[in-house]
Amino acid sequence: MATFKAPKGTYDLIPPVSVKYLAVREAISAPLRNSGYGYIETPGFEDVGLFARGVGESTDIVSKEMYAFETKGGDQLALRPEGTASVLRAALEASLHKQGNLPVKLWYSGSYYRYERPQKGRYRHFSQVGAEAIGAEDPALDAELIILADQAYRSLGLRNFRILLNSLGDKECRPVYREALQGFLRDLDLDEETVRRAEINPLRVLDDKRPDVQKQLVGAPVLRDYLCDACKAYHEEVRALITAAGVAFEDDEKLVRGLDYYTRTTFEFVHDGLGSQSAVGGGGRYDGLSEMIGGPALPSVGWALGVDRTVLALEAEGVELDIPASTSVFAVALGEEARRVLFGKVTELRKAGVAADFSFGGKGLKGAMKDANRSGARFAVVAGERDLADGLVQLKDMESGEQSAVALAELIDTVKARLA
Ligand code: HAM
Repeated sequence: MATFKAPKGTYDLIPPVSVKYLAVREAISAPLRNSGYGYIETPGFEDVGLFARGVGESTDIVSKEMYAFETKGGDQLALRPEGTASVLRAALEASLHKQGNLPVKLWYSGSYYRYERPQKGRYRHFSQVGAEAIGAEDPALDAELIILADQAYRSLGLRNFRILLNSLGDKECRPVYREALQGFLRDLDLDEETVRRAEINPLRVLDDKRPDVQKQLVGAPVLRDYLCDACKAYHEEVRALITAAGVAFEDDEKLVRGLDYYTRTTFEFVHDGLGSQSAVGGGGRYDGLSEMIGGPALPSVGWALGVDRTVLALEAEGVELDIPASTSVFAVALGEEARRVLFGKVTELRKAGVAADFSFGGKGLKGAMKDANRSGARFAVVAGERDLADGLVQLKDMESGEQSAVALAELIDTVKARLA
Protein backbone atom coordinates (compact mmCIF):
# COMPACT_ATOMS: atom_id res chain seq x y z
CA MET A 1 0.00 0.00 0.00
CA ALA A 2 1.21 3.49 -0.75
CA THR A 3 2.50 5.46 2.20
CA PHE A 4 1.21 8.96 2.62
CA LYS A 5 3.27 12.05 3.30
CA ALA A 6 2.34 15.52 4.45
CA PRO A 7 1.38 17.54 1.34
CA LYS A 8 4.08 19.61 -0.34
CA GLY A 9 4.81 22.84 1.51
CA THR A 10 3.39 21.56 4.80
CA TYR A 11 4.91 19.90 7.82
CA ASP A 12 3.69 18.30 11.02
CA LEU A 13 4.26 19.66 14.49
CA ILE A 14 5.49 16.76 16.53
CA PRO A 15 6.67 16.39 20.13
CA PRO A 16 9.02 17.46 21.53
CA VAL A 17 9.34 20.42 19.09
CA SER A 18 5.57 21.08 18.96
CA VAL A 19 5.67 22.40 22.51
CA LYS A 20 7.66 25.39 21.20
CA TYR A 21 4.77 26.31 18.92
CA LEU A 22 2.37 26.21 21.83
CA ALA A 23 4.73 28.40 23.86
CA VAL A 24 5.02 30.91 21.00
CA ARG A 25 1.24 31.14 20.58
CA GLU A 26 0.91 31.58 24.30
CA ALA A 27 3.60 34.29 24.46
CA ILE A 28 2.16 36.25 21.53
CA SER A 29 -1.38 36.13 22.86
CA ALA A 30 -0.53 36.87 26.51
CA PRO A 31 -0.02 40.64 26.06
CA LEU A 32 -3.24 40.83 24.00
CA ARG A 33 -5.29 38.96 26.59
CA ASN A 34 -3.83 41.37 29.11
CA SER A 35 -4.93 44.42 27.11
CA GLY A 36 -8.63 43.94 26.54
CA TYR A 37 -8.55 41.78 23.41
CA GLY A 38 -11.24 39.06 23.33
CA TYR A 39 -10.69 35.70 21.66
CA ILE A 40 -12.36 35.06 18.31
CA GLU A 41 -12.40 31.97 16.13
CA THR A 42 -13.74 31.93 12.58
CA PRO A 43 -14.07 29.11 10.01
CA GLY A 44 -11.06 27.86 8.08
CA PHE A 45 -12.85 28.73 4.84
CA GLU A 46 -14.98 31.64 3.69
CA ASP A 47 -16.85 32.83 0.65
CA VAL A 48 -14.14 33.42 -1.95
CA GLY A 49 -15.54 36.90 -2.62
CA LEU A 50 -14.63 38.04 0.89
CA PHE A 51 -10.92 37.71 0.14
CA ALA A 52 -11.20 38.83 -3.48
CA ARG A 53 -12.84 42.06 -2.35
CA GLY A 54 -11.05 42.46 0.96
CA VAL A 55 -7.46 41.44 0.30
CA GLY A 56 -7.63 42.56 -3.33
CA GLU A 57 -8.15 40.88 -6.68
CA SER A 58 -4.74 42.00 -7.98
CA THR A 59 -2.68 40.78 -5.03
CA ASP A 60 -0.55 37.63 -5.37
CA ILE A 61 -2.40 36.24 -2.35
CA VAL A 62 -5.74 36.28 -4.18
CA SER A 63 -4.70 35.90 -7.82
CA LYS A 64 -2.06 33.19 -7.43
CA GLU A 65 -2.03 31.70 -3.97
CA MET A 66 -5.60 31.09 -2.91
CA TYR A 67 -6.99 27.61 -2.43
CA ALA A 68 -10.35 28.34 -4.03
CA PHE A 69 -12.88 25.62 -4.75
CA GLU A 70 -16.48 24.93 -5.52
CA THR A 71 -18.40 22.74 -3.07
CA LYS A 72 -20.75 19.96 -4.08
CA GLY A 73 -23.55 22.40 -3.27
CA GLY A 74 -22.12 24.96 -5.71
CA ASP A 75 -20.72 27.44 -3.17
CA GLN A 76 -17.52 29.24 -4.15
CA LEU A 77 -15.24 29.03 -1.13
CA ALA A 78 -11.58 29.56 -0.32
CA LEU A 79 -9.34 28.32 2.45
CA ARG A 80 -8.50 31.45 4.38
CA PRO A 81 -5.17 32.97 3.28
CA GLU A 82 -5.24 35.50 6.15
CA GLY A 83 -7.36 36.45 9.12
CA THR A 84 -8.29 40.12 8.91
CA ALA A 85 -11.11 39.90 6.38
CA SER A 86 -12.65 36.93 8.24
CA VAL A 87 -12.47 38.61 11.63
CA LEU A 88 -14.04 41.80 10.31
CA ARG A 89 -16.73 39.77 8.52
CA ALA A 90 -17.53 37.95 11.78
CA ALA A 91 -17.61 41.18 13.81
CA LEU A 92 -19.99 42.78 11.30
CA GLU A 93 -22.17 39.67 11.15
CA ALA A 94 -22.49 39.60 14.96
CA SER A 95 -23.02 43.40 15.04
CA LEU A 96 -20.21 43.71 17.58
CA HIS A 97 -19.70 47.24 16.28
CA LYS A 98 -23.25 48.24 17.22
CA GLN A 99 -22.90 47.62 20.91
CA GLY A 100 -21.48 51.05 21.60
CA ASN A 101 -18.13 49.79 22.72
CA LEU A 102 -15.76 50.71 19.93
CA PRO A 103 -13.05 49.77 19.34
CA VAL A 104 -13.90 46.08 19.30
CA LYS A 105 -10.59 44.43 20.16
CA LEU A 106 -10.16 40.80 19.09
CA TRP A 107 -7.34 38.27 18.92
CA TYR A 108 -7.09 34.95 17.13
CA SER A 109 -4.78 32.04 16.51
CA GLY A 110 -5.05 29.56 13.69
CA SER A 111 -4.04 27.97 10.41
CA TYR A 112 -3.81 29.85 7.11
CA TYR A 113 -3.28 28.57 3.59
CA ARG A 114 -1.42 30.04 0.64
CA TYR A 115 -0.37 28.18 -2.47
CA GLU A 116 3.15 29.59 -2.48
CA ARG A 117 6.43 28.17 -3.75
CA PRO A 118 7.64 26.39 -0.62
CA GLN A 119 11.00 27.22 0.88
CA LYS A 120 12.40 27.67 4.37
CA GLY A 121 9.98 29.94 6.23
CA ARG A 122 7.40 29.85 3.44
CA TYR A 123 4.79 27.16 3.63
CA ARG A 124 1.40 26.36 2.12
CA HIS A 125 -0.03 25.84 5.57
CA PHE A 126 1.22 28.09 8.34
CA SER A 127 -0.07 29.57 11.53
CA GLN A 128 -0.55 33.08 12.80
CA VAL A 129 -1.55 34.75 16.01
CA GLY A 130 -3.26 38.01 15.18
CA ALA A 131 -5.04 41.00 16.67
CA GLU A 132 -7.59 43.40 15.22
CA ALA A 133 -8.87 46.60 16.81
CA ILE A 134 -12.02 47.53 14.92
CA GLY A 135 -13.87 50.82 14.74
CA ALA A 136 -11.58 53.54 16.05
CA GLU A 137 -9.27 56.01 14.41
CA ASP A 138 -6.82 56.71 17.18
CA PRO A 139 -3.04 56.74 16.84
CA ALA A 140 -2.79 55.30 20.34
CA LEU A 141 -4.47 52.14 19.05
CA ASP A 142 -1.87 51.72 16.30
CA ALA A 143 0.82 52.36 18.89
CA GLU A 144 -0.72 49.89 21.35
CA LEU A 145 -0.60 47.08 18.80
CA ILE A 146 3.01 47.75 17.81
CA ILE A 147 4.04 47.92 21.47
CA LEU A 148 2.23 44.66 22.29
CA ALA A 149 3.90 42.80 19.42
CA ASP A 150 7.27 44.12 20.54
CA GLN A 151 6.49 43.02 24.09
CA ALA A 152 5.48 39.54 22.87
CA TYR A 153 8.73 39.05 20.98
CA ARG A 154 10.82 40.35 23.87
CA SER A 155 9.06 38.05 26.33
CA LEU A 156 10.14 35.13 24.14
CA GLY A 157 13.74 36.33 24.35
CA LEU A 158 13.98 37.52 20.73
CA ARG A 159 16.36 40.44 20.21
CA ASN A 160 17.45 40.60 16.58
CA PHE A 161 14.21 41.80 15.08
CA ARG A 162 13.51 45.22 13.65
CA ILE A 163 10.28 47.12 13.24
CA LEU A 164 9.78 48.83 9.89
CA LEU A 165 7.19 51.59 9.87
CA ASN A 166 5.49 53.52 7.09
CA SER A 167 2.33 55.43 6.27
CA LEU A 168 0.45 54.58 3.09
CA GLY A 169 -1.76 57.65 3.22
CA ASP A 170 -5.53 57.62 2.92
CA LYS A 171 -8.19 57.88 0.24
CA GLU A 172 -7.46 61.60 -0.14
CA CYS A 173 -3.73 61.60 -0.67
CA ARG A 174 -2.85 58.14 -1.91
CA PRO A 175 -4.59 58.46 -5.30
CA VAL A 176 -2.58 61.61 -6.01
CA TYR A 177 0.63 59.80 -5.21
CA ARG A 178 -0.46 56.76 -7.17
CA GLU A 179 -0.88 58.84 -10.27
CA ALA A 180 2.50 60.52 -9.82
CA LEU A 181 4.16 57.14 -9.37
CA GLN A 182 2.41 55.70 -12.41
CA GLY A 183 3.64 58.63 -14.48
CA PHE A 184 7.18 57.89 -13.34
CA LEU A 185 6.89 54.14 -13.96
CA ARG A 186 5.55 54.60 -17.50
CA ASP A 187 8.90 56.08 -18.55
CA LEU A 188 10.90 53.07 -17.33
CA ASP A 189 12.03 50.01 -19.25
CA LEU A 190 10.05 47.28 -17.49
CA ASP A 191 8.94 43.80 -18.49
CA GLU A 192 5.33 43.18 -19.48
CA GLU A 193 4.16 41.80 -16.17
CA THR A 194 5.65 44.70 -14.24
CA VAL A 195 4.08 47.19 -16.64
CA ARG A 196 0.73 45.53 -15.93
CA ARG A 197 1.37 45.65 -12.19
CA ALA A 198 2.26 49.34 -12.50
CA GLU A 199 -1.20 49.99 -13.90
CA ILE A 200 -3.10 47.93 -11.32
CA ASN A 201 -1.02 48.39 -8.19
CA PRO A 202 1.96 50.69 -8.80
CA LEU A 203 3.03 50.73 -5.14
CA ARG A 204 3.82 47.04 -5.39
CA VAL A 205 6.43 47.78 -8.05
CA LEU A 206 8.45 49.63 -5.40
CA ASP A 207 8.65 46.30 -3.60
CA ASP A 208 10.29 44.56 -6.58
CA LYS A 209 13.47 42.93 -5.32
CA ARG A 210 15.25 42.64 -8.69
CA PRO A 211 18.38 44.86 -8.86
CA ASP A 212 17.72 46.07 -12.42
CA VAL A 213 14.24 47.26 -11.36
CA GLN A 214 15.55 48.78 -8.14
CA LYS A 215 18.18 50.70 -10.13
CA GLN A 216 15.50 52.25 -12.30
CA LEU A 217 13.43 53.17 -9.27
CA VAL A 218 16.02 55.61 -7.98
CA GLY A 219 14.38 59.02 -7.99
CA ALA A 220 10.83 57.64 -7.94
CA PRO A 221 8.35 59.93 -6.18
CA VAL A 222 8.02 58.99 -2.50
CA LEU A 223 4.72 58.78 -0.72
CA ARG A 224 5.94 60.79 2.23
CA ASP A 225 6.06 63.89 0.02
CA TYR A 226 2.40 63.37 -0.91
CA LEU A 227 0.86 62.62 2.50
CA CYS A 228 -1.97 65.01 3.37
CA ASP A 229 -1.74 67.01 6.59
CA ALA A 230 -4.15 64.70 8.45
CA CYS A 231 -2.13 61.59 7.53
CA LYS A 232 1.13 63.34 8.39
CA ALA A 233 -0.14 64.41 11.81
CA TYR A 234 -1.57 60.95 12.49
CA HIS A 235 1.71 59.28 11.59
CA GLU A 236 3.75 61.68 13.70
CA GLU A 237 1.55 60.87 16.69
CA VAL A 238 2.00 57.10 16.19
CA ARG A 239 5.75 57.58 15.96
CA ALA A 240 5.82 59.74 19.08
CA LEU A 241 3.80 57.23 21.12
CA ILE A 242 5.93 54.22 20.26
CA THR A 243 9.09 56.23 20.79
CA ALA A 244 7.84 57.27 24.22
CA ALA A 245 7.21 53.59 25.00
CA GLY A 246 10.87 52.89 24.30
CA VAL A 247 10.13 50.77 21.23
CA ALA A 248 12.73 51.26 18.51
CA PHE A 249 11.62 51.34 14.87
CA GLU A 250 12.94 52.31 11.47
CA ASP A 251 11.07 54.54 9.05
CA ASP A 252 10.82 52.61 5.80
CA GLU A 253 9.12 54.58 3.08
CA LYS A 254 9.46 51.61 0.72
CA LEU A 255 7.39 49.34 2.95
CA VAL A 256 4.42 48.21 0.88
CA ARG A 257 2.44 45.29 2.18
CA GLY A 258 1.13 42.45 0.04
CA LEU A 259 -2.53 43.12 0.84
CA ASP A 260 -4.58 45.93 -0.69
CA TYR A 261 -6.62 47.00 2.31
CA TYR A 262 -4.00 49.07 4.09
CA THR A 263 -4.26 52.79 4.71
CA ARG A 264 -2.03 55.05 6.81
CA THR A 265 0.03 53.11 9.37
CA THR A 266 1.75 49.98 8.05
CA PHE A 267 4.51 48.04 9.71
CA GLU A 268 6.48 44.85 9.50
CA PHE A 269 8.56 42.94 12.00
CA VAL A 270 11.62 41.54 10.27
CA HIS A 271 14.25 39.21 11.61
CA ASP A 272 17.75 39.30 10.22
CA GLY A 273 18.52 35.62 10.77
CA LEU A 274 15.89 34.25 8.40
CA GLY A 275 17.25 34.87 4.89
CA SER A 276 14.73 35.90 2.26
CA GLN A 277 11.58 35.16 4.29
CA SER A 278 12.55 37.75 6.87
CA ALA A 279 9.09 39.10 7.78
CA VAL A 280 8.04 37.45 11.01
CA GLY A 281 4.93 39.60 11.31
CA GLY A 282 3.12 42.50 9.78
CA GLY A 283 0.09 44.67 9.92
CA GLY A 284 -1.37 48.09 9.74
CA ARG A 285 -4.45 50.21 9.49
CA TYR A 286 -7.29 49.28 7.15
CA ASP A 287 -9.80 52.12 7.37
CA GLY A 288 -11.64 51.19 4.17
CA LEU A 289 -11.94 47.40 4.50
CA SER A 290 -15.31 47.34 6.23
CA GLU A 291 -16.92 49.34 3.43
CA MET A 292 -15.15 47.17 0.85
CA ILE A 293 -16.93 44.09 2.24
CA GLY A 294 -20.31 45.77 2.58
CA GLY A 295 -20.13 47.18 6.12
CA PRO A 296 -20.29 50.71 7.51
CA ALA A 297 -17.20 52.90 7.84
CA LEU A 298 -15.11 51.28 10.58
CA PRO A 299 -11.52 52.48 10.70
CA SER A 300 -9.44 49.64 12.13
CA VAL A 301 -5.91 48.43 12.72
CA GLY A 302 -4.30 45.07 13.38
CA TRP A 303 -1.41 42.69 12.88
CA ALA A 304 -0.60 39.04 12.49
CA LEU A 305 2.61 37.40 13.62
CA GLY A 306 3.71 34.17 11.93
CA VAL A 307 4.21 31.36 14.41
CA ASP A 308 6.37 29.26 12.08
CA ARG A 309 8.77 32.11 11.33
CA THR A 310 8.86 33.15 14.97
CA VAL A 311 10.03 29.64 15.88
CA LEU A 312 12.68 29.86 13.12
CA ALA A 313 13.77 33.26 14.50
CA LEU A 314 14.15 31.78 17.98
CA GLU A 315 16.27 29.00 16.52
CA ALA A 316 18.36 31.48 14.53
CA GLU A 317 19.10 33.40 17.73
CA GLY A 318 19.75 30.21 19.67
CA VAL A 319 17.03 31.10 22.19
CA GLU A 320 16.03 28.10 24.29
CA LEU A 321 12.53 28.59 25.67
CA ASP A 322 12.15 27.79 29.32
CA ILE A 323 9.50 25.11 29.01
CA PRO A 324 8.89 23.08 32.16
CA ALA A 325 8.65 19.29 31.78
CA SER A 326 5.05 18.35 31.15
CA THR A 327 5.12 15.37 33.52
CA SER A 328 5.95 15.69 37.23
CA VAL A 329 5.43 12.12 38.37
CA PHE A 330 5.90 8.89 36.45
CA ALA A 331 4.47 5.69 37.93
CA VAL A 332 6.22 2.38 37.42
CA ALA A 333 4.17 -0.65 38.46
CA LEU A 334 5.66 -4.12 38.67
CA GLY A 335 3.03 -6.86 38.60
CA GLU A 336 -0.72 -6.93 38.08
CA GLU A 337 -1.79 -5.83 41.54
CA ALA A 338 0.69 -2.94 41.53
CA ARG A 339 -0.63 -1.85 38.14
CA ARG A 340 -4.14 -1.61 39.48
CA VAL A 341 -3.12 0.31 42.60
CA LEU A 342 -0.68 2.71 40.93
CA PHE A 343 -3.02 3.39 38.02
CA GLY A 344 -5.54 4.52 40.64
CA LYS A 345 -2.89 6.73 42.27
CA VAL A 346 -2.03 8.32 38.93
CA THR A 347 -5.69 9.27 38.48
CA GLU A 348 -5.74 10.70 42.00
CA LEU A 349 -2.55 12.70 41.36
CA ARG A 350 -4.02 14.14 38.16
CA LYS A 351 -7.20 15.14 39.97
CA ALA A 352 -5.03 16.83 42.57
CA GLY A 353 -3.45 18.88 39.78
CA VAL A 354 -0.17 16.99 39.55
CA ALA A 355 0.91 16.10 36.01
CA ALA A 356 1.37 12.35 36.09
CA ASP A 357 1.99 9.55 33.63
CA PHE A 358 2.04 5.78 33.86
CA SER A 359 4.18 3.01 32.51
CA PHE A 360 1.84 1.38 30.02
CA GLY A 361 2.36 -1.81 28.11
CA GLY A 362 3.48 -4.06 30.97
CA LYS A 363 7.19 -3.19 30.72
CA GLY A 364 9.83 -4.51 33.08
CA LEU A 365 11.63 -2.25 35.57
CA LYS A 366 14.47 -1.29 33.22
CA GLY A 367 12.27 -0.31 30.29
CA ALA A 368 9.78 1.47 32.52
CA MET A 369 12.53 3.51 34.23
CA LYS A 370 13.79 4.55 30.80
CA ASP A 371 10.31 5.87 30.04
CA ALA A 372 10.29 7.67 33.40
CA ASN A 373 13.58 9.33 32.45
CA ARG A 374 12.38 10.30 29.01
CA SER A 375 9.22 11.86 30.42
CA GLY A 376 11.30 14.47 32.24
CA ALA A 377 9.35 13.70 35.44
CA ARG A 378 10.81 14.97 38.66
CA PHE A 379 9.71 11.86 40.56
CA ALA A 380 9.23 8.21 39.73
CA VAL A 381 6.88 6.19 41.90
CA VAL A 382 7.87 2.55 41.82
CA ALA A 383 5.93 -0.30 43.43
CA GLY A 384 5.99 -4.09 43.28
CA GLU A 385 3.91 -6.68 45.11
CA ARG A 386 6.25 -6.64 48.14
CA ASP A 387 6.08 -2.85 48.65
CA LEU A 388 2.33 -2.92 48.40
CA ALA A 389 2.03 -5.75 50.91
CA ASP A 390 3.80 -3.36 53.31
CA GLY A 391 1.54 -0.47 52.29
CA LEU A 392 4.48 1.35 50.69
CA VAL A 393 5.71 2.74 47.39
CA GLN A 394 9.24 3.83 46.47
CA LEU A 395 9.54 7.52 45.58
CA LYS A 396 12.61 8.26 43.51
CA ASP A 397 13.85 11.80 42.99
CA MET A 398 15.00 11.68 39.35
CA GLU A 399 17.28 14.69 39.80
CA SER A 400 19.28 13.54 42.84
CA GLY A 401 18.73 9.80 42.37
CA GLU A 402 17.64 9.54 46.02
CA GLN A 403 14.97 7.01 46.77
CA SER A 404 12.78 6.61 49.85
CA ALA A 405 9.80 4.52 50.90
CA VAL A 406 6.54 6.45 51.32
CA ALA A 407 3.28 5.16 52.76
CA LEU A 408 0.82 4.55 49.94
CA ALA A 409 -1.86 6.51 51.81
CA GLU A 410 0.43 9.55 52.01
CA LEU A 411 1.72 9.46 48.44
CA ILE A 412 -0.41 12.30 47.08
CA ASP A 413 0.35 14.70 49.96
CA THR A 414 4.05 13.80 49.99
CA VAL A 415 4.42 14.36 46.25
CA LYS A 416 2.53 17.65 46.40
CA ALA A 417 4.68 18.86 49.30
CA ARG A 418 7.91 17.90 47.60
CA LEU A 419 6.92 19.50 44.28
CA ALA A 420 5.91 22.74 45.96
P1 HAM B 1 0.92 38.97 6.19
O1 HAM B 1 2.09 39.88 6.20
O2 HAM B 1 0.47 38.44 4.88
O3 HAM B 1 -0.25 39.77 6.90
O4 HAM B 1 1.19 37.75 7.14
C1 HAM B 1 1.63 37.93 8.47
C2 HAM B 1 2.71 36.94 8.81
O5 HAM B 1 2.28 35.61 8.55
C3 HAM B 1 3.98 37.09 8.00
O6 HAM B 1 4.80 38.10 8.52
C4 HAM B 1 4.60 35.71 8.16
O7 HAM B 1 5.28 35.60 9.41
C5 HAM B 1 3.39 34.82 8.21
N1 HAM B 1 3.22 34.19 6.89
C6 HAM B 1 2.57 34.69 5.82
N2 HAM B 1 2.64 33.83 4.78
C7 HAM B 1 3.37 32.78 5.21
C8 HAM B 1 3.80 31.54 4.61
N3 HAM B 1 3.47 31.22 3.36
N4 HAM B 1 4.55 30.68 5.37
C9 HAM B 1 4.87 30.98 6.64
N5 HAM B 1 4.48 32.12 7.25
C10 HAM B 1 3.74 33.01 6.55
C11 HAM B 1 -1.52 39.29 7.10
O8 HAM B 1 -1.83 38.14 6.98
C12 HAM B 1 -2.47 40.34 7.61
N6 HAM B 1 -3.79 39.71 7.81
C13 HAM B 1 -1.95 40.95 8.91
C14 HAM B 1 -2.88 41.97 9.46
C15 HAM B 1 -3.74 41.84 10.49
N7 HAM B 1 -3.02 43.23 9.02
C16 HAM B 1 -3.95 43.84 9.74
N8 HAM B 1 -4.41 43.00 10.63
